[in-house]
Amino acid sequence: MIDDPSGGWEAIANDFIAARSDIGRNVVRHWAKTLPRGGEVVDIGCGAGVPVAATLAEEGFSIFGIDASPTLLAAFRHRFPDAPTACETAQASSFFNRTFDAAIAVGLIFLLPADGQRQLIERVGRALKPGGRFLFSAPRQAAEWIDLQTGRPSQSLGEAQYGQLLAAAGMRLVNSYLDEGENYYFEAESYVRPA
Ligand SMILES: C[S@@+](CC[C@H](N)C(=O)[O-])C[C@H]1O[C@@H](n2cnc3c(N)ncnc32)[C@H](O)[C@@H]1O
Repeated sequence: MIDDPSGGWEAIANDFIAARSDIGRNVVRHWAKTLPRGGEVVDIGCGAGVPVAATLAEEGFSIFGIDASPTLLAAFRHRFPDAPTACETAQASSFFNRTFDAAIAVGLIFLLPADGQRQLIERVGRALKPGGRFLFSAPRQAAEWIDLQTGRPSQSLGEAQYGQLLAAAGMRLVNSYLDEGENYYFEAESYVRPA
């Protein structure tokens, strides 16, 4: 099988769009209310943009979308024609050459191999303004499983390792959330390291 950068999501993009529920909307809305009003937020692995980016837009944020699936990103662009987007992998996206007030990755990080997860956390750490926030979903405990939708391996590195990777990238865990689908979210804050 020839691999694709989306890790199997392009092949099931239309089914995913049809099936994506509203789960997570309440967590995103709650998190958004803690951010500085009107800031710039990058949605990493943004999919079609509902409910995550849609909630952020409703809350008045400027959204940027990164996704490796052309079909899912086309749906995102259709919904948010003015939002800057990049059809790239999170690990290599050119969007991390600039800064953001916040970053969000729902349903993404655990799809990446461990090295890709580390790379992504490093890149987010570099792109966040001091005090910037990063919200990402992943099981709290370290675990490996097969993703039901794509049939690909997935892995959570678990709270302890995510905490270490975040610290190495200039961020610290500050909060957590659980949504109505029992999905766990880590919230990290970027800080200025003492010289
Ligand atoms: C479970 S879906 C979540 C989509 C969206 N965040 C949501 O909550 O509806 C995972 C998304 O990550 C994208 N994706 C998978 N691997 C990626 C990668 N390496 N870089 C960027 N996007 C990726 C897929 O195309 C898909 O849109």
